[in-house]
Parts: sequence; structure tokens; C-alpha cells
Amino acid sequence: MQSEGKVRHIGLSEVSVDEVVAARAVAPIVSVQNLYNLSNRRASALLEYSAAEGIAFIPWFPLATGALAGQGSPLATLAEAHGSTPSQLALAWLLHKSPVMLPIPGTSSVAHLEENVAAAGIRLSPEELEALDALS
Ligand SMILES: NC(=O)c1ccc[n+]([C@@H]2O[C@H](COP(=O)([O-])OP(=O)(O)OC[C@H]3O[C@@H](n4cnc5c(N)ncnc54)[C@H](OP(=O)(O)O)[C@@H]3O)[C@@H](O)[C@H]2O)c1
Repeated sequence: MQSEGKVRHIGLSEVSVDEVVAARAVAPIVSVQNLYNLSNRRASALLEYSAAEGIAFIPWFPLATGALAGQGSPLATLAEAHGSTPSQLALAWLLHKSPVMLPIPGTSSVAHLEENVAAAGIRLSPEELEALDALS
């Protein structure tokens, strides 16, 4: 379908590194989309491979379906100290992890959308990153 011009780019979802390697022998793969967030880092090896190969890494459930975003979030204390919201900190942590990271947080609210987009402008100190890394 790609050679027929019906598909421009190919991305894969929920794959292992071995599966991406096998797929790339058949066609170029531009992105992968796996479950990845502060509380679930099982796709770390895939993230490392993606960064090394210049493949976009799309972490789905970047807010752990909201568990990292609300009042009861484990990020609440760090977020308050930073002057941001837990959701913003969860997204900023992802964006600091790798230049190939492209989070896709879901929301039904314009206010949350604006808050989440603003997370792209947050700069975290090495100490803050270390504290976030230690949470899981
Ligand atoms: N590839 C796959 O296999 C796969 C599987 C599942 C999902 N996905 C994709 O992953 C994306 C994200 O999934 P998701 O939306 O279910 O999970 P998510 O982004 O981790 O969490 C969304 C939840 O977080 C809340 N939220 C968002 N921003 C917030 C904020 N600033 N403050 C407080 N709460 C906030 C939302 O509530 P509000 O509506 O109140 O903001 C919603 O309940 C979607 O595009 C989905 O299609 C892919």
C-alpha cells in the first residue's frame, strides 16, 4: 500500500524491539506507540532503541488514564514545589526523557488541553528529574 501511494508512513503499536527490527526489514517504520508513563516504564528498551534509530516514540496513557493527573496523584507534592500541576509534571518528565518522545494525553476538557500543551515549555532541573525518576 505504501508503494501504491495509499499509505505515507507506517507506525507500529505495542511492539518489542525484536518486532520493530523484523518489521524494518520489510518497510521503513517511522513511529512506535507503546504504553509508557511515570508509573509504567516497561517499554524503556523500546524507547532507547527508538532514540538511537530516530524513530518517534508515542507513549500512550501518558497520564496513566488520569491517575497521575488528579489531586491524589503521587506527583502532587513535587508539582506544588515546582509551581505546575501533576499532569504537567508527568508530561514534562516524558518530554525530558528523550527527543523522540511524543506524548498523546487524552482529555475532554479545553482547560486540561491548554494545561497539558503548556507542559512542553516546562524545564526541569536535574534534581527534579531525579526525584521524578525515583517515583514509580
Ligand atoms: N496504542 C494503543 O494500544 C492505545 C491504547 C490505549 C490508548 N491509546 C491512546 O492513548 C491516548 C491517551 O489515552 P487516554 O486518554 O485514555 O489516557 P491518558 O492520556 O493517560 O489519561 C487521560 C485522562 O487524564 C485526564 N486528564 C488529562 N489531562 C488532565 C489534566 N490536565 N488534569 C487532570 N486530569 C487530566 C483526563 O480527564 P479529563 O477528560 O477530565 O481531562 C482523562 O481521564 C489516546 O489517544 C488513546 O487513543 C492507545
